[in-house]
Formats: sequence, C-alpha cells, structure tokens
Amino acid sequence: MMPYPTLFSPASINQLTLKNRLVMTPMGCSLANTDGTITDEFIAYYAERAKGGAALIYTEVACVNSEHGRRSSRQIWLTDESQLPMLQKLTQTIHQYGCAIFPQLLHPGVISTNAANGGRPLPGPSGITSKFLKQEARAFEHDELKGLVQDFVRAAVLAKKAGFDGVEIHAAHHYPLHEFLSPYFNKRTDEYGGSFENRCRLLLEIVDAVRAAVGRAYPISVRVSAEDYMGDESYHLDENLKLCQLLEQHTVDVISVSVGGTENGRSHSLEPITYPQGWRRHLAKAIRTMVNIPVISTTVIRDPDYAESLLNEGYLDFVGMGRSFLADPEWPAKAAAGHPEDIRKCISCLRCIDSIKAGGTILCSVNPECGAEYAKKELVQNGDGRLCVIVGGGVAGMECARILAQRKFRVCLYEKEGHLGGQVYLAAQAPKKDKMQWFIDYEETQLRKLEVDICLNHAVTPEEILKLRPYLVVDATGSEPYLPPVEGIDGPLLTTPVEILSGKCQLTNQSVVLFGTGLTSLETAEYLTARGNMVTIIGESSRIASGGGSSVVIGEILRSLQQDNAVIMTGRKLLKIGTDRVVYQKVDTGEIFELPCDKAVMCKGVRSCGKIAAALQGRHPNVRVIGDAAKVGRIQEDVLAGYQLAMEV
Ligand SMILES: Cc1cc2nc3c(=O)[nH]c(=O)nc-3n(C[C@H](O)[C@H](O)[C@H](O)COP(=O)(O)O)c2cc1C
Ligand code: SF4
Repeated sequence: MMPYPTLFSPASINQLTLKNRLVMTPMGCSLANTDGTITDEFIAYYAERAKGGAALIYTEVACVNSEHGRRSSRQIWLTDESQLPMLQKLTQTIHQYGCAIFPQLLHPGVISTNAANGGRPLPGPSGITSKFLKQEARAFEHDELKGLVQDFVRAAVLAKKAGFDGVEIHAAHHYPLHEFLSPYFNKRTDEYGGSFENRCRLLLEIVDAVRAAVGRAYPISVRVSAEDYMGDESYHLDENLKLCQLLEQHTVDVISVSVGGTENGRSHSLEPITYPQGWRRHLAKAIRTMVNIPVISTTVIRDPDYAESLLNEGYLDFVGMGRSFLADPEWPAKAAAGHPEDIRKCISCLRCIDSIKAGGTILCSVNPECGAEYAKKELVQNGDGRLCVIVGGGVAGMECARILAQRKFRVCLYEKEGHLGGQVYLAAQAPKKDKMQWFIDYEETQLRKLEVDICLNHAVTPEEILKLRPYLVVDATGSEPYLPPVEGIDGPLLTTPVEILSGKCQLTNQSVVLFGTGLTSLETAEYLTARGNMVTIIGESSRIASGGGSSVVIGEILRSLQQDNAVIMTGRKLLKIGTDRVVYQKVDTGEIFELPCDKAVMCKGVRSCGKIAAALQGRHPNVRVIGDAAKVGRIQEDVLAGYQLAMEV
C-alpha cells in the first residue's frame, strides 16, 4: 500500500488533474538572463524538481512590465513573444515528468529598486515607499491601472501560448496587488481605495481580464497573504475570507495561502528556524471552509507524515512547499517510496533567500547541488573500495563521507566527540534551533546505510592514520575558539561557547558576561537566558553581528534577548578577566569599568584547526583540508566543500 495515500492521490484544479498533492511554491532563483530570457540553468533547476515527483511547480515571480515592474535583475519576464522558444522548452521539459507548471505573475511595485527599473520611482497604490528598501516611490496614476491590468493579460496569454498549464497572480507579500487590499498601504481616494470593495477592485479587474483572455478552462491561481501583520490598520483574515469568496465568484480556480510580506521585517511568509511546522495552518483551514475551490498553503511543511495529516485533517487540498524542494528535489519520490528518513529536510536557515537578496543565485545550505543542476557532474562510482580516512564528523566531513561512499570508496570517519555534527550540533542546542539536528540525523542515517565506518570518541592520531595506508586523508577537524591575548584569559572565570552549548559548562541563574556581538555570541546568550542566567554582552565593534548572518535570524534572537532583559553594550574593549569580574573600557571616552560576574564567555570567533593535515605534511601524498579546518564558513560553504572534494577525487 502507498505509504501516504492522500498525499499521493490525484486532485484537480479546474480541469487540470495533478498526479499528487505536492506543489512547489514560487521561489526567486535568479537563474534567468538579465533580459528576462530563460537559461538552460533555469530549466535544469526546475526539471530536477519535476523529476523528483512534484505534481505542480510554480515558477519564480515573472515580470509583467519590464519598464517599471522588475523585481530583480535575473528574473524571468513574460512580456514579449520573442521569449516563447525558451519558455516552451521549459514547459516541455517539465511536462516530460508528468508535472504541471504555472508562472507566477508579478508587478513588484515598491518592493524593488529604482536601479532595477531604469532609475524610475517605483509605483504603488499611494506612493508609500518600502520601509526596508527605501526607494523613491510614487502612486500609480488612475489611468495607468488599466495598463497594469493589460500587463497581466499579456503575460497570461503568453504563458498559455508557451504551454504553461495555468497562471498565478501574485497578490501577497506586500506587493502592489496586496497593498491595494490593505488599508495600511492603500490611501487612495479614487475608486481603488477606501472601502473593502474599492480595495479589491484592481485585483478583481485583473482576474476578470485574464479570465476573458485565457478562457474558462484555463487554471487561474491567486496567491494571497491571509494576514498582513502590519498592526491594527492592516488587512486581516476576516477581510481575506471575503476576498477569497469574491475570487471564487470571479472564477479563480485555486487559492494559494501565504501570509505577511517584507514590510514588517518579521519574515512570517518565509519563516526562520524558530517557527514550527504547521504554525499557520489554521489560516488555510479558515479559507478552505469558506470556498469551494482548492486551497494550497505553505506552513513550514517538512515531513511527509505531517503533510499527510494536514490533508487528512482538512487544512488544505494541496501541500505547498518551497524550501523543501530546494533542500531535496526528490522529497516526493522518497516519500512515495516509503523512505521519509532519506529526505534531506530544509532547516529554515534562510541562506537561500539571503543569497538572492545579496544579488546571488539560488543555493541551499544542505543541498550543494541546488542552483547548480545544469553544471552538475555525474557521480562516478570508481572508488574501487579504496580507503578514505576523514577526520572530523562535522557537516563538511559527513557530506564528504556520504559522497565518497556513494562513489564506492571505503570510508572511515573519525570524530573525537561522542556525537556527529560538530559546530552544527552545538548550534542545534540553542533554543528552537532543533531543526539543525535534522541535517545531522539525515547525514548520519545515510552514512550508516552506506556502511561508512563511524568511529566516535576517537581522536585519531596521524600515526594511526598512516598505519591504515589510506588512499586519501581528509582533514575536516573544523575550528577552535579564538582566545585573544588578554590578561586573565587562562583564568577559571572564562569559558567558551563550545563548553556552554555542549553542556560541559552548565550555568543556571548566574550572572554571565559574553565578549563579542557575533551570531555565536547571541545564540549562546539566548541559550543562557533560557536557563535563567542574567546575561550581559560586550562588544568592541559599534555594530551587532557585523560578521554576518541572516538579518531575520539576528532580529529574532535580539527580540528574544530583549524579552529576557539581556544587556548588550557595544563600543567596549575588554581589558582584563579577573577572578570574579571583568574590566572593560568604553572606546569613545576611554572610561574604565568593572563588571562583577560568575562566568565570562569568550565569543570572539573561531580559528581553523587543520592540525591533522599539518602533521601529515610530507608524510602522505594525498591529504586534503575542507570546511572550517580550511576556512571558517557557514553550513552552506562547509557542506559544499565536502561535496566538491568528494566529487573531484
Ligand atoms: C529563495 C526564495 C524565494 C522566494 N520567492 C518567492 C516568490 O518569488 N514568490 C512567492 O510568492 N514566494 C516566494 N517565496 C516564498 C515561498 O514560496 C514559500 O512561501 C516560503 O518559502 C515558505 O514556505 P516553505 O517553508 O515551504 O519554504 C520565496 C522563498 C524563498 C526561500
Ligand atoms: S538554504 Fe536553508 S532555508 Fe533555504 S532551503 Fe536550504 S536549508 Fe532551507
């Protein structure tokens, strides 16, 4: 019997029958050309997800007006017949796998940049600029709105010609079609502002015009934010329920439920690691009970058992997943085969969206092939049982071991601790960061299935390694805390984040000072406050987390620290660590202060180890260093390094 009978049962949108309930929601991938044409990289990226078993793929946001409607420089456009050949190549490729595909049509309004739009001011309902992007904005002229309707019509007609199975109109995430709905953003005094009916007018005009152009049988999807989280003046579920009923009356075939948007800085629609699976499923259910058309929703859906239960309990008709498809394109196939333990689950680290925001292409911390499908090398099984010794069971070492074992090398992995995961294991100990452990569990499961010899609690020596006469030695020993040369650094008052997060140094209800304002310091502080400690963070730099990290994640931690009354002081230089206090200097005034405490934690970053490679230099011909042992990086860089080495040896 099929392990997830509802998940893998067919269902329809209008007259389109989908083979299962798994839908990949739209995600910007920045793999198109700067003129909006589709590339082979773009096609290969989506093809991988279709091949993996998705029933329906929504593409990233497609531009409908290239003059003032560009979201980013490498998105696709649906503006011109000259784009048809590559669009057709895309749809034909996806259809080969029995998967349907819809483009998501968008005008980004003020959620873009002036630079991406020829330096022109960005149009929105009332000329209110984005709080975060802070670009020059203007209000849509009344007559311009008719043109905007036609932009969507032209794009939808082009999509139909290109062989797309339907279209989605993006009316969520604080983009203009959402902003028009929301009294917070829409201050217009013409027939597009004011009453609920007026605020819905533009979206309904677009729906009607698109419907008239594509015919009744062609599926139209609308993505909505069920709540916009902009405070009292904002747009709430009650109005959204009425809107969804109107959309159904106007012959929309499916509602895709999301929430929020960019403008409150909280990333409700693209949740950081702290949000549990299903946290907003009630919004989808509320909509589903009010309409007679299918409802798709994302809500941090990561495992098939949970997805099946959402369907069976009537929360949704189709399971919307974005990042699960980045982390593992074969998510559906593995679930269908009854092997959920083989699914590499998204850990909600937000590295993918950070890459896009920084002008890069799509990538994923846990899936080194994400965004690189076109250039992907074939995995050649020519290991012939040759022995590879990997020292260090962090994520770089584990990923390297996994690929080497798949290539039929014999792999022996040594880890000095009693568990795998290295720094990621420690990070998983911080409050609500348990999803990090998912990735470690995935790797460990795969390594055991591949019969990798895992030796825990074994700090292997160079001599032991040489005795094994391995073909390859990989130094993946990671990093160690950096201890700056400060008076008292060796004293008993001081400890490190590693000691704290590993539980070797247990503190409760104590007064603790942390030095450094980087992400590790903030996460360690959060761990400590959760155990009742009074925390003070002292940093020399005037900025918090200047070393990087997702701004959303940092914002979440800072909010939690504030709630727990943690004190953060920047612009302070550490002078001395005493036996029961620390001494620091205020950088701008030179004043010196003493701060009594029970414990001090040095969070000034880490330094690469690489000791095994150094000890084997000149004694073994094939020693490689990867991950933090080579260069301190985030999970994505470490996993990629392990993967790349294993693919190339
Ligand atoms: C890199 C990235 C880009 C995204 N771009 C879009 C987009 O173009 N349009 C959209 O409606 N949602 C976009 N989203 C949101 C996703 O469709 C999805 O709703 C969100 O990731 C939450 O679902 P998940 O937890 O299953 O990933 C994007 C998400 C990511 C990670
Ligand atoms: S980068 Fe992180 S958030 Fe994005 S898909 Fe991968 S694991 Fe998920």
